[in-house]
Amino acid sequence: MDITRLIEDDHAEQRRLFALIDDIPDFETGALAAVWGRLGALLDAHAEAEERFFYPELLKIGKGAADSDSAKDETKDAIKDHNEIRDAGSAVEQCKVGTKEWRSAVAKANKANSDHMAEEERQGLADFRQHASLDERQHLGVRFAEFQSNHLTGVKPVDKDPDEYIRENQ
Ligand SMILES: [Fe+2]
Ligand SMILES: [Fe+2]
Repeated sequence: MDITRLIEDDHAEQRRLFALIDDIPDFETGALAAVWGRLGALLDAHAEAEERFFYPELLKIGKGAADSDSAKDETKDAIKDHNEIRDAGSAVEQCKVGTKEWRSAVAKANKANSDHMAEEERQGLADFRQHASLDERQHLGVRFAEFQSNHLTGVKPVDKDPDEYIRENQ
């Protein structure tokens, strides 16, 4: 139950649900609302779980990976991205399901999330695999799984100040 694996599994599920929305026609508003509801809940709970269990540990032991110089940079970028994803998700909620505006809001959330996942996988997750022990990855994986299982319908999306987050968790 490696936390980096659980995070990547969630990413795959997020990609799958965005693709599923693309496959559902506009008039199937009940299905679109249901799949978006599930995806929005996953996006919010996933970001919160990472902020509680992954990034605080990365800040302590990471050294930077790929095109990032430090765990602090990786974390700061991630919190900024999570805020963007939360805001993009809230924007979807403001639109009428199945309309052109709604599709465009979903596409924006998909873009913000895809860009973030690619960076997180290349930097933070790689950094953590290089510097965390298997025991620690397993221990945090259990915490991550517990939190997510307790929040299947999502969490209240609250933006965080990246600098403040780093100060509190360093
Ligand atoms: Fe993630
Ligand atoms: Fe993330």
